[in-house]
Amino acid sequence: MRKFKTKYGQFSPDGTEYIVTTPETPKPWINVISNGDYGLAISQTGSGYSWRTHAQLNRLTRWEQDLIKDEWGKFIYIRDEKGKVWSAGWKPVCATPAAYRCRHGIGYSVIESKYNGIENELLVLVPPAEPLEIWQLTLRNRSRRRRTLHVYTYLEWGLGQAPDWHREFHKSFIKTEFNARAQGILATKRLWEIPADRGHWNTEWPYVAFHTASVKPASFDTDKETFLGRYRNQSNPAGVGKKSLDKKAGNGLDPCAALHHDISLAPNQEITIVYTLGCADSTEQALALAKRYRSVDSVKEALAAVSSRWDSLLGTVRVDTPDEAMNLMQNAWLKYQAISGRMWGRTAYYQTGGAFGFRDQLQDSQLWLVIDPERTKQQLRLHARHQFADGTVYHWWHPITEIGLRNRISDNLLWLPFVLAEYLKETADDTVLDIPEAFVDDRTPSPLYDHCVRAIDKALELFSPRGLPLIGEGDWNDGLSGVGLEMKGESIWLGHFLHKILLDFVPIARRRDDIRKADEYAARAGRLRDALNSLGWDGAYYYGATKDSGEKIGSHENMEGSVWLNPQTWGIISGVAGAQRGDEVFDIVERRLEKDFGPLLLTPAYKTPDRFVGYLTRYSPGMRENGGVYTHAATWAVIAAAMLGRGASAFRIYSKLNPINRGKEPDVYCAEPYVTAGNIEGPDSPFAGRGGWTWYSGSAAWLFKAGLEWILGIRPATDGLIVDPCIPPEWKHYKVRRSFRGSIYEFEVRNPTGVQTGVQELWLDGRRICLDTGPREKRVPPFGDGKVHHVRAVLGPAS
Ligand code: GLC
Repeated sequence: MRKFKTKYGQFSPDGTEYIVTTPETPKPWINVISNGDYGLAISQTGSGYSWRTHAQLNRLTRWEQDLIKDEWGKFIYIRDEKGKVWSAGWKPVCATPAAYRCRHGIGYSVIESKYNGIENELLVLVPPAEPLEIWQLTLRNRSRRRRTLHVYTYLEWGLGQAPDWHREFHKSFIKTEFNARAQGILATKRLWEIPADRGHWNTEWPYVAFHTASVKPASFDTDKETFLGRYRNQSNPAGVGKKSLDKKAGNGLDPCAALHHDISLAPNQEITIVYTLGCADSTEQALALAKRYRSVDSVKEALAAVSSRWDSLLGTVRVDTPDEAMNLMQNAWLKYQAISGRMWGRTAYYQTGGAFGFRDQLQDSQLWLVIDPERTKQQLRLHARHQFADGTVYHWWHPITEIGLRNRISDNLLWLPFVLAEYLKETADDTVLDIPEAFVDDRTPSPLYDHCVRAIDKALELFSPRGLPLIGEGDWNDGLSGVGLEMKGESIWLGHFLHKILLDFVPIARRRDDIRKADEYAARAGRLRDALNSLGWDGAYYYGATKDSGEKIGSHENMEGSVWLNPQTWGIISGVAGAQRGDEVFDIVERRLEKDFGPLLLTPAYKTPDRFVGYLTRYSPGMRENGGVYTHAATWAVIAAAMLGRGASAFRIYSKLNPINRGKEPDVYCAEPYVTAGNIEGPDSPFAGRGGWTWYSGSAAWLFKAGLEWILGIRPATDGLIVDPCIPPEWKHYKVRRSFRGSIYEFEVRNPTGVQTGVQELWLDGRRICLDTGPREKRVPPFGDGKVHHVRAVLGPAS
């Protein structure tokens, strides 16, 4: 069965592969494959790059951000006896294939093609726990005569900071060698552009890069000049015409790695070469890894290990709904994107990144809650260590160097208590609050509870005289960079966000007998709510912010940016708006902001840059934060709709954001149909509906959460699992299976009368239970017994 087929590709029958059927997709459609340390990005053209630990500070191979040419990568050339040349991955030769498909899978990619009677199959993967990638190349002779083929690999060593914009400097520190035992090339670098303890950059790149083959190479080269030829390029390198490569190695080259093999294949005969590319801690490790991956069996084992690892990660929650596009995203791709792209790789084509964003990776780590909450805990601890003693935090920091950016963006610090409260709902494990962690500037360990309180208290300190939080250099929206530099401007969204955190922390403080804090937070939440509902109200909805001058923005008084999404959705999510006002503001979201491709972050887009708003007004109108659909924020509209009981709206918005649906018009949407886009251009752009900034977007974990917890309505609370579906009325039936505190729950939800919400009956393991906890929801208790429990919920109108 071909799923969601377009002229560019389709999903595999079980949905765990996206099969690209032409190399000429509207934009590079990539896979981000990582094991948590080593990783690579590969597009359907075979281009891409590799890194270890940090995609920017420790890039193994050179790559430049050019999504039109997509011409940097690690390539394999094949030349036949008649001098015809092609590439195993299409780029850089770009010959016309007789057959082509690229299967992007969970943890691997395969490019299969046929040129001149030869079938080429290139499998690329990263084993679960070692710093290398494997390329398994199989060539099959499908012609009727014996064929002589010459196969050449080619890549350029980066070995450090990317982009490698000053090549003439950096190449001077790299040394290459051919190592016969490795059957390949080793490369080292004597300088790393990171701070050193003795003077400027005065430190060694501490790794050994390697590129090896399972079959002894006939020749090799590590000199770009001789391999490509003077003034030639990758599409037509001189080396590929040579009987033997130049075997140059050592210092003083513009260093690359090229391995050459000569092959003779009888009709229907095939050959497999296993190549490695990696970044080892030592020459011994490089040699050991090269040796380990020298057989087809070793690759088979590595692929099986990759699959079983991903199966166990993705298998803890399964949904089966009437919507196949939702099933594919919830069961595989959103989780894969959040883990491989955001938590592990932290890099992709549109933003090569590598750092940890204080708020970004904490939000993403919510995805681990349903898979392995221990990992969310580790993330909370990591971020706590990047907080300062005064409660403020780094905006982002670099692993490896630990260099970070401290700024006055006002929401960053609050994501620590926010995610910690979510962790407690999943686990009810209050011991996490006692875990000691140091601060960046104070090495005395302090319990995580204290880290959270310092963050909240700092946010409570940064208030305007009339009782609203100060926006500083921006709130969640980085583009509001000029609003509150004098620390006078206010943010309405931040007020909503803080209100929710205060309410979450009241019971947490109580459980710790910190009654003073509990009372203080409850009182502050009450005052904040009143202030937001009076001072933050624009007549028909919440406005966005005030500038340092006191002027409102995101208000009906403004010609541009006159209504913003976040203050409306979070007005609802935070409980500030209440039921009636919540309905009113959501009507505005549906009427003013929601388009065919999702709800816009604001409208109309800013056409004139405004220094007192920030850089978002400088984007082309309709792009990104300036009046586009910003998927991360748009997912909050799904949650808000569900909170109001608007099941049809929640699912409609979810579906509009679902890349599978957007991808049904691939020439408009352009982006990959299997991962979320960071943004989709709004109506003020000439490219309305075009997706961009895929993979590296904070939206995957949130869209997953919105789908599972708010549409399907299975979400954790400290005392159990809430069952609170909020679905389109035409849905009759769905199932969810998830693990929760050591047991497995199989939910079956029935909707015989076509309502959107309201559980009327709840059956647990065949017995009807009655645990009323709210007007429409029910709860099932935690068991922690390692068993499977069946829960049946029947929806219906309130009696
Ligand atoms: C980017 C940033 C994120 C921010 C968002 C909105 O996605 O990574 O931290 O919240 O933009 O500006």
